[in-house]
Amino acid sequence: MTDTALEARQSTAGGFGTALTTAYSEALAGVYDDVYPDTPDLDDIGTFLLTLAHPGARVLELGVGTGRVALRLAEQGFEVHGVETSPAMLARLAEKDPRGRVVPHLGDLTGLDLGRTFDVVLAPFNVLCCATAVDEQIALMHALARHTAPGGHVVTETFDPSDHHVQKGNAVTTHPVGERGAMIESVAVLPASQNMLVQNTLFLDGAPPSCATTVLRYLWPSELDLLGGVARLELVARHSGWREQPFDGGDSRKMCVSVFRPLA
Ligand SMILES: C[S@@+](CC[C@H](N)C(=O)[O-])C[C@H]1O[C@@H](n2cnc3c(N)ncnc32)[C@H](O)[C@@H]1O
Repeated sequence: MTDTALEARQSTAGGFGTALTTAYSEALAGVYDDVYPDTPDLDDIGTFLLTLAHPGARVLELGVGTGRVALRLAEQGFEVHGVETSPAMLARLAEKDPRGRVVPHLGDLTGLDLGRTFDVVLAPFNVLCCATAVDEQIALMHALARHTAPGGHVVTETFDPSDHHVQKGNAVTTHPVGERGAMIESVAVLPASQNMLVQNTLFLDGAPPSCATTVLRYLWPSELDLLGGVARLELVARHSGWREQPFDGGDSRKMCVSVFRPLA
């Protein structure tokens, strides 16, 4: 594919997927921290980044959400910037960050250009899968590459889709939302397009239920390498967790932490 063709694909990306993600995140911002509470491995992310960058390094997090990861990195001494499409998510981050330790940027990751680079550009917790189609994912890889300083690294965290790819029917999970109620999540998989249709129903505060829907596109690790190559990023390491566990299918969380560097 020529550079011009790639740029044309990039320019069409972002519309539908970003609009869908934005609406979904706006609906979930108020319950996000209850549904996805801090996990014990959050501190490991900073420790891992110190194997790639110096203390106090400049980190850009794509899809910062409510700052679950970014705030922990800021506490660990990194200079952290975060980009997010949902104003409600950034409002929640601001509440949790009265001292403004994380620099927020409201915007769409596809086509993002902050006009500066960072030592580490981080896309944790399946941010790349928030895109609905491969052209959007290519645009996200370009955004990661564009913001990486010479000698810097791109770090992505995605789930291993093996189990989802063969899933039959809907998978339904219930998440408690503190004292307020619960969220029921129903996920259907379309393996041909690698899409997951996620439907959430919120039962909160005794009010009538409300719904939020989004579409994800899962990525195979090998596909991630190909998309990295399209954005001139080369894979240098892959682990199944932030403690550098080997990526051999043995980890029950089946996460895929990938480290890329820009090709010269
Ligand atoms: C799964 S959440 C992860 C949030 C945070 N990184 C964490 O670990 O808790 C993904 C976040 O990325 C944001 N996001 C997804 N696609 C985006 C896009 N195209 N532009 C900006 N933000 C986006 C979503 O709004 C959401 O807040």
